[in-house]
Amino acid sequence: MTSPVTIPTLYKMKEKGEKIIALTAYDYPLARLVDTSGVHMILVGDSLGMVVQGHSSTLPVTMDEMIYHTKIVTRAAQHALVVGDMPFMSYQTGIETAVANAGRFIKEGGAAAVKLEGGASVSGVIQAISLAGISVQAHIGLTPQSVHQMGGYRVQRDEDRLLADALEVEAAGAFSVVLEGIPSDIAESITQKLKIPTIGIGAGPSCDGQILVIHDLLGLTDRHVPRFVKQYAKLLDLARAGVRDYVEDVQSGRFPGKEHCY
Ligand code: KIV
Repeated sequence: MTSPVTIPTLYKMKEKGEKIIALTAYDYPLARLVDTSGVHMILVGDSLGMVVQGHSSTLPVTMDEMIYHTKIVTRAAQHALVVGDMPFMSYQTGIETAVANAGRFIKEGGAAAVKLEGGASVSGVIQAISLAGISVQAHIGLTPQSVHQMGGYRVQRDEDRLLADALEVEAAGAFSVVLEGIPSDIAESITQKLKIPTIGIGAGPSCDGQILVIHDLLGLTDRHVPRFVKQYAKLLDLARAGVRDYVEDVQSGRFPGKEHCY
């Protein structure tokens, strides 16, 4: 059993050029699976609004829902660093509320750090949360909580702005930054300029690490899967076949068999 991943571990990995592997998880069985498969960081992402709750965006997700899922994931994670994702409107309305909500992820959820979306515009919030002793991961580029402002889930290509955002969140004290939906060459240049690790999703191969939504990676969803996802399994098809077999077995009397009876 290797020792638990900490934030200094991630800095060392960047220094050594070792890739940081991150995945989302929202429940106990998948968090156990991810934690025991060599993943360094588990994000309890607000993407759960889409892949677990069935919403069409992450906007409806609440603090209480995030804390509920974070508690479950931290119960399962023995090795990976758990990051709790701050939902829409939990850090945008004022610094005090933001710090208090970040604190709930650590105190109630058991997370080691929080993540929030935005660049220069949230640097004050990142600084305040960091000064309160809570590690913050920033998230720039395609930020799903701004879906309406962006006019959809669109690749972000404004290099000057992306670089300025990255440098600002680093200066504000972020321990890492997620780069989502940005061209690979811009992600590479940001990764070279920052001391903190970059974790990419739809940002090419040069980031210090990669993250995907577990439901997309395992094919556990029938929602549209973005181009940047590589599907390593098609579990929904397997599960559907299993449930259909069960239905047929019950209808035909093949289940329960003698071996299932007392
Ligand atoms: O909510 C989420 O899962 C995320 C990752 C995809 C980066 O923000």
